[in-house]
Amino acid sequence: MGQLGSYFRERLGWESHLRPFLEKPLPGDLNWTFTLGSLGALLFLVQAVTGILLALYYNPSPEHAYQAIDYIMKEVTLGRVIRGLHHWGAAAMVICVSVHLVSNFFFGAYKPPRELIWVVGVGLFLLTLAFGFTGYLLPWDQKAYWATVVGTSVPEGVPLIGPFITHIMRGGEEVSGLTLTRFYAIHVLVLPGLTSLFILVHVYLVRVHDIAGHWDTERPGREKTKRFFPDHLFKSTVVFMAVFSMLLILAYFVEVPREDIAMTPDPAYLPRPEWYYLWLFELLTYFSGSTEMIGTLVIPLGGVLLLISLPFLSRLPLRSPADRPVVTAVTVTCLAAIVYLTLMGMEDSRSYSHMVPVPDRRLTSLKVWFEKDCAYCHHVLGKGGRREGPDLSNVIAKGRTREWLIRYIRDPMAVKSWTTMPKYDLTEVELNALAAFILTLDFDRYEPRIIYRKEIL
Ligand code: HEC
Repeated sequence: MGQLGSYFRERLGWESHLRPFLEKPLPGDLNWTFTLGSLGALLFLVQAVTGILLALYYNPSPEHAYQAIDYIMKEVTLGRVIRGLHHWGAAAMVICVSVHLVSNFFFGAYKPPRELIWVVGVGLFLLTLAFGFTGYLLPWDQKAYWATVVGTSVPEGVPLIGPFITHIMRGGEEVSGLTLTRFYAIHVLVLPGLTSLFILVHVYLVRVHDIAGHWDTERPGREKTKRFFPDHLFKSTVVFMAVFSMLLILAYFVEVPREDIAMTPDPAYLPRPEWYYLWLFELLTYFSGSTEMIGTLVIPLGGVLLLISLPFLSRLPLRSPADRPVVTAVTVTCLAAIVYLTLMGMEDSRSYSHMVPVPDRRLTSLKVWFEKDCAYCHHVLGKGGRREGPDLSNVIAKGRTREWLIRYIRDPMAVKSWTTMPKYDLTEVELNALAAFILTLDFDRYEPRIIYRKEIL
């Protein structure tokens, strides 16, 4: 036994390589937030294992994908739990990676000489989001399909290359079987490969430059009294076991949400993205027409570029948040905005449509507005509705004519192929009433007043 042990120790370079790697000394005061990195890597492993098991039964075609999920859920041993783990594990990974990113921001861990650790980390964050986006389509239900229709249509508004990007993402004009195979290949081949590579580089760089630890290098406890193995690995394992147990409980007891098979005709279907994309989705609704590009291109791309270039913009080696007030203030504001937008997006059940601001003048029929629940997506003067679609108080300023409005409301897709506004089954009378009502919303000339739903219906 001893001989066999020394055979392998020698062959594997235990003394020269493995042992120094495992027993690397670490500062004594590493707290639990510093386990997030290992947690992310371990959760990735969970996704890889459950993903492989799912891939054994999954079939990426519009004819079979939905049924394959049925089969996994009902027939495969433990299939339901494995799928649950993969589903809730994905959410856990997004949370873990995001919190890791944010906490390292506050600890100033991106400061020299750790710039590259940060850049690779941002890459891992984006890869995690890409996993979410591509994985979302695979169950091929209504939610999957529509979220992808909306998601892939986002770049379409970008001048010149926009439609081309959308075409590449979808593998054609529409979301179809070609989109599914494309997303599947990226989800199971490209992203896992890239992510593994990025994790290796990330860990290697952390080894070269050490864990950043607390920003105050003078404070007691910074001496290297701990070791990666067993101290830090133990802590990380405890955290991982706790998270994994929670995932198991979720997977076992909470059904993964599922809807009808994709492309079931339902004109009133409301596309919803996964919760961690909700803030972006919500953000898009603040911009339409000529400002649309701000929401679809400027803010997301600008945000990513800013994240990547952060270590090169904020170069002074001061790591405490108090020593970098500007960057800290900007980040806190962005985080608050993301939380706010997410909450706005989640407020599905918010009491919309109980009132509408109208101009103080004789009104054309308001009844259809309330009956058809247009306020589910439109507000007027920022009130009375949700922000899914544009504020209808500035339709006049946009120079829309009655004919245009009727044409648009009758079949929004015919006017803008990628719009999420549903097509309603409306009579000519209703169409005329809606167009006329929208055209009375002229707040440049009339003071607003509030009309309540119960006054009308
Ligand atoms: C599911 C959400 C949703 C519902 C419900 C909805 N809309 Fe829309 N609507 C939108 C979105 C999103 C847009 C913007 C699409 C775009 O950028 O072209 C839009 C655009 C419009 C526009 C064009 C505005 C302009 O000038 O560009 C009009 C008019 C309109 N909606 C009227 C209505 C009416 C009337 C109803 C009720 C019958 C209604 N909408 C219900 C989401 C919705």
